[in-house]
Amino acid sequence: MSKENKKEKDGELMGKIVSLCKRRGFIFPGSEIYGGLAGTYDWGHFGVALKNNIKQSWWKKFVDSRRDMYGIDATIIMNPKVWEVSGHVAGFSDSTEDGKQFNVMFKTQVGAGEEATTAYLRPETAQGMFVNFKNTVDAFHPKLPFGMAQIGKAFRNEIAPRDFIFRVREFEQMEIEYFVRKDDWEKYFEYWRSEMLEWMEEVGIDTSKVHELEVGEKDRAHYSSRTVDFEFDYPFGRKELFGLAYRTDFDLKNHQLEYIDEEKGEKTVPHVIEPTFGVERTVLSLLVSAYTEEEKDGEVREYLKLKPNIAPVICAVSPLLKNKPELVEYANVKVFTPLKEEFGRVMWDDNGNIGKRYRRQDEIGTPFCIVVDFDTLTDDMVTVRDRDTGEQERIKVSDLKNYIKEKIQ
Ligand code: GAP
Repeated sequence: MSKENKKEKDGELMGKIVSLCKRRGFIFPGSEIYGGLAGTYDWGHFGVALKNNIKQSWWKKFVDSRRDMYGIDATIIMNPKVWEVSGHVAGFSDSTEDGKQFNVMFKTQVGAGEEATTAYLRPETAQGMFVNFKNTVDAFHPKLPFGMAQIGKAFRNEIAPRDFIFRVREFEQMEIEYFVRKDDWEKYFEYWRSEMLEWMEEVGIDTSKVHELEVGEKDRAHYSSRTVDFEFDYPFGRKELFGLAYRTDFDLKNHQLEYIDEEKGEKTVPHVIEPTFGVERTVLSLLVSAYTEEEKDGEVREYLKLKPNIAPVICAVSPLLKNKPELVEYANVKVFTPLKEEFGRVMWDDNGNIGKRYRRQDEIGTPFCIVVDFDTLTDDMVTVRDRDTGEQERIKVSDLKNYIKEKIQ
């Protein structure tokens, strides 16, 4: 393919993903009825579900299944001193088109009238963990190495928001600050590099499109002595997905925080390895990884090949015909209701003919469509259609829960 053709195709792909997201209720332009607001997007029902599944999978792997990780949910507006001490007031800038430095932190006012003070919306969740380092140590007495984890919103007044949800002004981060002894930093840097890749595989990011970039000194953030960016081949080019930084003892030292290392019998300032993940970029890389077009009998089938543990809807339930009360009753009482109670993300879909329903569910990325037909009424079996192969199998209604449970392991 020539360069021009590839560019056109990539542009088309991005357009298709953006339009699918709006059409199917994943992502809408922010404040759209007032002409939008640059760099903001609103999340529809399926977008929220997708983000929740991503965040849950992250929390399960990096917090719940470990013994050395402590969660925190700090405020978005913090004492402004935090950002002076962290170096963000002086150094969290980008250059404008005419080369002027522009601090990308959003300012706000806390309090009224003359008493009001200027504060900032946090540009990273990381500082919420550093300022609660002492609280966490005092409450849980963790031994080194241990980590803190946080998922939450971050805000940056980006000079040029662009490429759909790739660079926005309000986004979510999933971050870990992992505290280690100074001499161990390289070992844990390598450890987190492979943990990050493992999670990418687990959620379904196409890792053949992921590339590691050793970030040079002048491009690193002010707090980092080493950074590896995980870049992704988006349709608009190879750009940052996630990052892994060695923050040294920069933050704890600046906040004047210490730790008593009982094993070594000394006071010390732990060093920090920081794996950081953006939720929006996870969603975008997943959409690019999952978007599939297939031509069959002259028709193009579009579907999202999302993993069952991440897909917004795990299965859709349909009566073959919506004007046959006995089918509707069976589908509702014996199939939909118990599955809905068990899995939550189950959708009732009786709109249009079966072909239309399959196409809609394909675009939402629903792995299984379950249809109740006239045979079901006598044999208590339903048709389960697989999104990726289009193949259908008959399954006993009493086996459905286990069948689905196995798929979302
Ligand atoms: N605490 C470290 C930190 O904030 P960063 O590389 O500036 O590092 C971390 O941001 C992650 O947050 C990025 O890897 C990316 O996934 C996400 N991110 C950063 N800026 C973003 C933006 N404007 N829009 C969407 N995601 C963004």
